[in-house]
Amino acid sequence: MKIQLKSVESTQAFLKEKVLEGGVFQHLDCVVSPVQTAGLGRQGRPWIAESGNLHASLYLHPGQLPLTWIPLWIGVSVARVMLEYGVTREQVRIKWPNDVVDAGSGAKIAGVLCEKVQRIVIAGVGVNLRSAPQVQGRITTSLADLTGLALPPEIPDDFLDRLLAELKFEPYLRVLKKTYEDWAWFRPGDSVRFEDAITREEGHGRVIGYGEFGEMILSTATGERRLLSEEVHLKSRS
Ligand code: BTN
Repeated sequence: MKIQLKSVESTQAFLKEKVLEGGVFQHLDCVVSPVQTAGLGRQGRPWIAESGNLHASLYLHPGQLPLTWIPLWIGVSVARVMLEYGVTREQVRIKWPNDVVDAGSGAKIAGVLCEKVQRIVIAGVGVNLRSAPQVQGRITTSLADLTGLALPPEIPDDFLDRLLAELKFEPYLRVLKKTYEDWAWFRPGDSVRFEDAITREEGHGRVIGYGEFGEMILSTATGERRLLSEEVHLKSRS
């Protein structure tokens, strides 16, 4: 089932409310809207919705994958769908945990917000298709910018259908982990700064890699550190 709205505060809040009210949904049912007046991003940030972009929330019954891998899987799937529109594999990467970014500049193209509600996951997906909203302190880009194509008005629906097709088959964890590492924007050896979104604690380290729960593993002055949801910024890369 695809619930197609004309305008909503947030597809995420809408679907969450329906689930909590006892609504009956199936795996990969979704809510989509061209307009969101109060879109939600990760870490309590807003998500600016612009016309021609994709704003959808998906109802997922996770299978075998650990829950912590679901957002990373969705990020990889969004990036894969972009390839179907002529973006090259070299052009996009996944910035841990699940932002789809321009491989060169790190500009954000898509974001994923996963929330566990009862025993299911609601995955909110925002993709800058036709335009890149200006977000203070961040660089953004869009599928249209990357491809140089004038994308048709029906692109959000088309992109969503392709994403749903991509998500039909849940990957094996070891396959997903390898795929994620191939797409990862932060590479072993990168020097990064991280910040806890709640406590604002800051730290620095060097990327070692990714762990079995999708966590980012760093080597820091005080030893190994595993990041679960911190905000990570690239400092330097050799
Ligand atoms: C992020 O901060 O990177 C995650 C952004 C997620 C945005 C999407 S748009 C559709 C869905 N509805 C929301 O309110 N948020 C998510």
